[in-house]
Amino acid sequence: MPTACSEMRFDGKCVLVLGGNAGIGLAAARIFVAEGAKLALTGRNPESLRAAAEELGALAIRADMGVLADSDTVMREVADALGGIDVLFVNAGVGGFAPVPEVTEQFWDGIHSVNLKGAFFAIQKALPLMRDGGAIVITGSIGSVSAVPGNVAYAAAKAGIRAVARILAAELLPRKIRVNVVSPGPTDTDIFKRDASAEEVAGLRSFFAGVVPEGRMGTPEEVACAAVFLASSEASFINGVDLFVDGGCVELKS
Ligand SMILES: NC(=O)c1ccc[n+]([C@@H]2O[C@H](COP(=O)([O-])OP(=O)(O)OC[C@H]3O[C@@H](n4cnc5c(N)ncnc54)[C@H](OP(=O)(O)O)[C@@H]3O)[C@@H](O)[C@H]2O)c1
Repeated sequence: MPTACSEMRFDGKCVLVLGGNAGIGLAAARIFVAEGAKLALTGRNPESLRAAAEELGALAIRADMGVLADSDTVMREVADALGGIDVLFVNAGVGGFAPVPEVTEQFWDGIHSVNLKGAFFAIQKALPLMRDGGAIVITGSIGSVSAVPGNVAYAAAKAGIRAVARILAAELLPRKIRVNVVSPGPTDTDIFKRDASAEEVAGLRSFFAGVVPEGRMGTPEEVACAAVFLASSEASFINGVDLFVDGGCVELKS
């Protein structure tokens, strides 16, 4: 499995990963640092934040992306520590399944406050710190284009992210800041393991592997490599795309 795609693409660059203490975000954070970046990351879990800070020599900020004031604090701390942002990876996200009749306002808001509203306002608050010529990558999902029963709230939030990214890409053209989405298919991280028993996790893993033509879930590193590529100068002519990293889930997207 790949852990880094090439060498030192982020030498001297300041990178902020929102949701960088676990899963795909942590895998990307490791690549950014291995390739020379000065890194700040956020998350909620104090233990994994501490572990990531120690491992990566990064500034780790405890912040809830669903609380807009927390994003103000993040940007202030990043301004003090890094002076600006060259790469912003907006990756924090939560999952949750409920069929349409069972979706409550609280359930809907719990997903949208982080995955769409929180992501949008975090980007808005980061823009004054972003250096011209920089890059923003946002984590979407194959769910945004898939008719998966039970996934309505999450899918709507991630479809919103697709729209946000395309409009941001257009608005930020004068500043030469590229904005792209990386959309994972089923990926083996903790997102589907939280609040699930070992038996449920085994069942979900086998279900997810079954929908991927390759017959397996992706790894966090495989998605991270694509996100880091979009953030790098190797993707200098790529703007406003939604890159699916899903092992070829063609039918899910039709
Ligand atoms: N895994 C998949 O199959 C899959 C598929 C499609 C899309 N995605 C997307 O990929 C992204 C990363 O997820 P993952 O699979 O790597 O899951 P993960 O291991 O659960 O990581 C989620 C990350 O987001 C952070 N986070 C969640 N809620 C937050 C909040 N309210 N405020 C701040 N940080 C928050 C988590 O921090 P804490 O641990 O501290 O809460 C963690 O760093 C998400 O946007 C997810 O929707 C995942």
